[in-house]
Amino acid sequence: MNPVIEALTFRHACKKFDPEKKISRQDLDTILAAGCLSPSSFGMEAWKFLVLESKQVLQQLRPACWDQAQITDASHVIVILARPELVTPGNEYVKDSFMRRGLPEDATLAYIDRYKWYMETEVFPEMSTYAWCAKQCYIALANIMTAAASMKIDSCPMEGFEKDRVETILKIDTQKYEVAVLVALGYRAGEQPPRRRHTKETLIEYR
Ligand SMILES: Cc1cc2nc3c(=O)[nH]c(=O)nc-3n(C[C@H](O)[C@H](O)[C@H](O)COP(=O)(O)O)c2cc1C
Repeated sequence: MNPVIEALTFRHACKKFDPEKKISRQDLDTILAAGCLSPSSFGMEAWKFLVLESKQVLQQLRPACWDQAQITDASHVIVILARPELVTPGNEYVKDSFMRRGLPEDATLAYIDRYKWYMETEVFPEMSTYAWCAKQCYIALANIMTAAASMKIDSCPMEGFEKDRVETILKIDTQKYEVAVLVALGYRAGEQPPRRRHTKETLIEYR
């Protein structure tokens, strides 16, 4: 079987982790590398990966995450933070991001203008900068889960949390960072339930 499809077949939203099993630092580094290597619109990388491993912190966090057991049973929880302030048009970071491409100055300036135009005409009428950054964070989320699955490590993506409460508990500087999504990582305890998916015929169309 294709190794990516094999990993995606192994992956389930794990509801029950074995609280005794820990992910090695080496495997965790590989999982985080997959997050860092993820693509983002205009290459902005407007994210940060906050890795929680302290049982005490995870115990504190659980009630703000709908009291879901994955938070305390998982080996690690990665909080993917969006960085809307960083990528607001006009921020020096935006300029630096385009400059690191090493293009001639006029091409860099054209990119900066195009970015501002794109954000103002396509993004802002539809969503906040936070929502735009969060979309990118979900790409990193997917890569993190697939990388984990490729090493037979289980995961659960988690949107079931109270954002403000989580940010307060984790002492997040919300002027700069906002929680996009969480992912619990560890090893399954027992069998996973059967997967349910719509048929390919209903999901795929060729034209
Ligand atoms: C963005 C996102 C957020 C999710 N949040 C939760 C969650 O808070 N708790 C949970 O148990 N499952 C959560 N899930 C898991 C979904 O319920 C699950 O992926 C879906 O039912 C399909 O099952 P599968 O992933 O095992 O194939 C989430 C999934 C995604 C993609």
